[in-house]
Amino acid sequence: MYAQMVKSEATQDDPEKLAAFQARIDRGEKIEPKDWMPEGYRKTLIRQIGQHAHSEIVGQLPEGNWITRAPTLERKAILLAKVQDEAGHGLYLYCAAETLGVSRDELTEMLLDGRMKYSSIFNYPTLNWADIGAVGWLVDGAAIMNQVPLQRTSFGPYSRAMIRVCKEESFHQRQGYDAIRKMAEGTPEQKKMAQDALNRLWFPSLMMFGPSDKDSVHSEQSMAWKIKMNTNDELRQKFVDQTVPQIEFLGLELPDPGIKWNEERGHYDYTDPDWSEFFDVIKGNGPCNTDRLAARNNAWKDGAWVRDGLLAHAQKKAARKHAAE
Ligand code: 3HC
Repeated sequence: MYAQMVKSEATQDDPEKLAAFQARIDRGEKIEPKDWMPEGYRKTLIRQIGQHAHSEIVGQLPEGNWITRAPTLERKAILLAKVQDEAGHGLYLYCAAETLGVSRDELTEMLLDGRMKYSSIFNYPTLNWADIGAVGWLVDGAAIMNQVPLQRTSFGPYSRAMIRVCKEESFHQRQGYDAIRKMAEGTPEQKKMAQDALNRLWFPSLMMFGPSDKDSVHSEQSMAWKIKMNTNDELRQKFVDQTVPQIEFLGLELPDPGIKWNEERGHYDYTDPDWSEFFDVIKGNGPCNTDRLAARNNAWKDGAWVRDGLLAHAQKKAARKHAAE
């Protein structure tokens, strides 16, 4: 439906302008906020960048949950820094979306009332410390796999935001891998916890790349516009190929009996996630959807006095300036 709307809007645009725009994309030029762009391009970017920003912000919740219970002071300081980085990523991305004519408040309202999505992965719980290691290793690992190519995306502010985000995400992935390695090499109980976290988070991590290519609504148009650089299945396969040797190095068991090296394809075969579960989670029926949105709504309500205070201060300053002129 949305993809059809975007396509029909694209065809309403002046064909000459559209062709010149596509030629710029094809030449690898960056599109900047004040350049002419098809309405569908603008809307698709607002949707994708907005969803991405919301994912960074909501993604702080499952990890923030463990800051007070980190096993050592060092792990606590690292986790605190990581969760703060995610807030920063959300802010860069909201700023990039604002250059397209939507305000951060509007985007936030659309998240809070369920009109906009955030990544499915954050609707799963983090039950223990091993989950925090697995989130850094697998979830940030999947995020980087998706976001490194986005550094070359056609929209200038988005691609530039991605450069810094990717540097920080790499640190996040390494800290997660280090935490899970420590547990995998630890006592039998710790190793069991690491295995259990891997087993539970494996398929939800694969879901982060989106539905299979045959069910992806936006990929074709988004790839033509270089808003997306790869299909969902291409990136999912790269993630599996990168992660299986890491699992083996850690001495953990593979979380899916369907994982097997396929000599002919030069890739690992693997079992697809349960797509009915994925669609259910993005409809709002995952294990933590209600909690996550309630937490964000409460934070928005609790912060009202700060926003009101800042607005009153800005209005007073503007009135003083006006009176002095
Ligand atoms: N979670 C929630 N919704 C998802 C999803 C997921 N994992 N994957 C797809 N969807 C939604 C899409 O938004 C779309 O719904 P909509 O039409 O209502 O917006 C629908 O499912 C169909 O999927 P498509 O494949 O057609 O959608 P896209 O072309 O947008 O592809 C995507 C999905 C690959 C996630 C793409 O949007 C993308 O690359 N986004 C940028 C990266 C991003 O958002 N990452 C979030 C990861 S979390 C993170 O970075 C935090 C870090 O700290 C770990």
